[in-house]
Amino acid sequence: MSSGLELVDVGVAYGPTRVIDAVSLQVAPGRIVGLVGESGSGKTTLAKAIIGSVPLASGSIRLDGVELRSGHRSREERRAVQLVQQDPFASLNPALTIGSVLDELLRVHGLGAAPSHTHPQAPEKRPRSRNIGSKGTFRELGDRGSRRARSAELLGLVGLEAEALDRYPRQFSGGQRQRIAIARALAVEPAVLVADEPTSSLDVSVQKTVLELLSELASRMNLATLFISHDLSVINAVCDHVAVLQGGRLVEVAPSGRFFTHPEHPYSRALLEAVPRIVKETP
Ligand SMILES: Nc1ncnc2c1ncn2[C@@H]1O[C@H](COP(=O)(O)OP(=O)(O)OP(=O)(O)O)[C@@H](O)[C@H]1O
Ligand SMILES: [Mg+2]
Repeated sequence: MSSGLELVDVGVAYGPTRVIDAVSLQVAPGRIVGLVGESGSGKTTLAKAIIGSVPLASGSIRLDGVELRSGHRSREERRAVQLVQQDPFASLNPALTIGSVLDELLRVHGLGAAPSHTHPQAPEKRPRSRNIGSKGTFRELGDRGSRRARSAELLGLVGLEAEALDRYPRQFSGGQRQRIAIARALAVEPAVLVADEPTSSLDVSVQKTVLELLSELASRMNLATLFISHDLSVINAVCDHVAVLQGGRLVEVAPSGRFFTHPEHPYSRALLEAVPRIVKETP
């Protein structure tokens, strides 16, 4: 049975300063755990540790029971754990069309290529637009075509039209860019998604649709999702469990229903009192 993402006694330090201390947390496949805590409590640092971009000072991070290395991860390890960041513009190369970003990603990971037993230009796989500047062999053209079809499918998953493939990041709104960032993260079929304040740069009305999208995809794709936010109303809207980080330590982990009605830790209560109008929606 797959156990999803597990943090066991994780510690992270910047130089002599320990920023994350003895954090143990589990995120099961298909579940969304909200990580909340004030600015500087270590949320982004923990996200970086999970994707392997900062080394662990102690403890371990496991995926389905297998330890993920803390630095120099293999391509497979990197593929398995994807990050969606706060500012989608910063994470998208302005010089590349969305189509070329997705194509490169699928190519590097050997995804979206036509299976060898089928005709590489099978009608249902044929891209609607032409292959520009392709110098490859027929076989390569076929792979490129199927990667393009897969890219269009990924954009469809996040509610965007295939024509978006030929456009550049600047030609999209903030909400659309965040959808593209989500499509890019999902392109490599990860097991774990870490979303670090994915909607805090968006207008409130746009936030809601992106949150709904994330929560729908997390369950549809059976992703173990760690959803980071300092906004409890956002956490309340999408998370199954809530984990509260204070000064680099987890002070409470509880199912959302219980957390929002009976928070146990004084710090959790203080966080909730700062936003008094949260009412847990009943499904
Ligand atoms: N590269 C770094 N080098 C040294 N210290 C750092 C570095 N990055 C973060 N810190 C420190 O680590 C602590 C945790 O920072 P982190 O960015 O993880 O917090 P956060 O909870 O994500 O905050 P925010 O809500 O503002 O995004 C802070 O004290 C911060 O100053
Ligand atoms: Mg942060």
